[in-house]
Amino acid sequence: MGTPAFDAPGLRGKARAPVLPVPDRTGNPDYTVEPRRAEIAGIRRGTQIMTSQIAKQIVLLPGDGIGPEIVGVAVRILKDCATKFGHQFDFAEFPFGGCAIDAAGEPLPAGTLAACKAADAILLGAVGGPKWDAQPIGKRPESGLLALRQALGLYINLRPIDIRASLASLTPLRAERAKNVHIDFVRELAGDIYFGKHLVEADASGERAVDEAVYTTGEIERVAKYAFARAETRTGRLASVDKANVMSTSQLWRRTVTRMAAAHPNVKLEHLYVDNAAMQLVLAPAQFDVILTSNMFGDILSDLGAALVGSIGLIPSMSCGPGPSLYEPIHGSAPSLAGKDVACPVGTILSASMMLRESFGLAREAEWIESAVDRLFVNGIRTPDIVEPGTTRVGCNEFGERLLAEMAGTAGQRKSSNV
Ligand code: IPM
Ligand code: MG
Repeated sequence: MGTPAFDAPGLRGKARAPVLPVPDRTGNPDYTVEPRRAEIAGIRRGTQIMTSQIAKQIVLLPGDGIGPEIVGVAVRILKDCATKFGHQFDFAEFPFGGCAIDAAGEPLPAGTLAACKAADAILLGAVGGPKWDAQPIGKRPESGLLALRQALGLYINLRPIDIRASLASLTPLRAERAKNVHIDFVRELAGDIYFGKHLVEADASGERAVDEAVYTTGEIERVAKYAFARAETRTGRLASVDKANVMSTSQLWRRTVTRMAAAHPNVKLEHLYVDNAAMQLVLAPAQFDVILTSNMFGDILSDLGAALVGSIGLIPSMSCGPGPSLYEPIHGSAPSLAGKDVACPVGTILSASMMLRESFGLAREAEWIESAVDRLFVNGIRTPDIVEPGTTRVGCNEFGERLLAEMAGTAGQRKSSNV
C-alpha cells in the first residue's frame, strides 16, 4: 500500500503544518456524553434542529486481512452520507500494521502517525496475520496499534454491546436472558499490562517471562470520569470490574472509583471481580448498563459481550483522548476470510456512524445509517457470519450496496443535525 496524499487541497496544507492534535468533543475531559438511546428513541424529535454543513478530514487505516474490504464499504457509506447531507468528508489512506511492516519496515510509520494527529477522526480496519506472527512483541502489527493508541493518548475505549431486536435470534443466550441487553463497555486503553515492561530472560528451567501491569491514580480517574458521565446519561448504573482480591492495580482501581462515586450521587456504583463479571454477563447481562474496566479485562470481556450479540463482526468501538478519536470494529483481521468478499462490514459501518455522532455531532446522520442497517437485518439480509435459515446470504460488498439502497429510500429531505 502506498501513502497517497489527502484528496482535499485544504487538508494537504494542514497536514504539512506542525499541527497539534485537534481536540474534539470526545477528547474534552469535561465532555458530556450524548444521550444516544434517547435520540434514537426520538426524544429530540420536534426540537429545533439547526442545519449546518461540516468539512472533516478522515484518515483511513485499512490495515491487513479483511481490513481493506470492510473499510472500503464503510467509506462508501460515509461518502453517501456526505453527499446527502451536504457535508464534505475528505479521506486519506495510510499504511498501518502488517502491510506497513512490509512497505516501510515498521507497523506505524512516522507519516501515518503524523496524518492521524492532524486528522479530525480516524477509521481503522484491523491489523495482523500469520505472515507476521513470528515477529517479537514490539515488531508485530499489533504493536503498531498499541503505539498508535499511546501516541494519540487514547485512554477511553467505548464498546457498545447491544442485542438488537432485529438480530435477537442470533444470540446464544436463552431468549428471556437476552432481553434489554444494552451494555456500554468503557475499557481503559492506555495503561495496564499492555504498556508495562515485557521481558523474557534465561532461567534455570529454561526461560522466565515478565509482563508488568501498572496503573496510576490519574489514569484510573480520567477513564472513570468518562464512565460516570456516560452512566449519568443512561440508566445510572455503573459496574466497575477488577480483580481486587489479587492485584494491587485492582485495589488502587477500586479505591479510586469508590472515592469518585461521592461526586456522582445519581450513579449506582457496584464492584465486581472479573471472574464473577464474566459469569454474570452470560447469566444475566441485562443487569448491566455501563461497565468500567481495565485494559486487559476490557479486551477479554468485550469479546464475551460480542458473543452474546451473535458475531464479533457486528461490534464497533471508539477510542478517545485529548486529540482525534479513532474508530474501529473490535474484531481482528480474519486472514482466512480476506479477499473472499465474505467479511461482515457492520462493525466498521457502525464505527463510522459512531464517528459521525461522537466526533462530529451528527446524531441524525448516524441514526439514519443505523436504522437502515436495522432494516436490512429485519429484511433478512445477512453476511455469512450471521446467516440463518430463511435469511439471504450476501457478501461484504453486496451488504454495502444494499445498505446504500436502503439509505437512499429514506434520505428524503433530511437536514443535518449538527448543532
Ligand atoms: C482489540 C484487540 C487488540 C487489543 C489487539 C489486536 C492488540 O484485541 O482491540 O480488542 O488487545 O486491544
Ligand atoms: Mg480484543
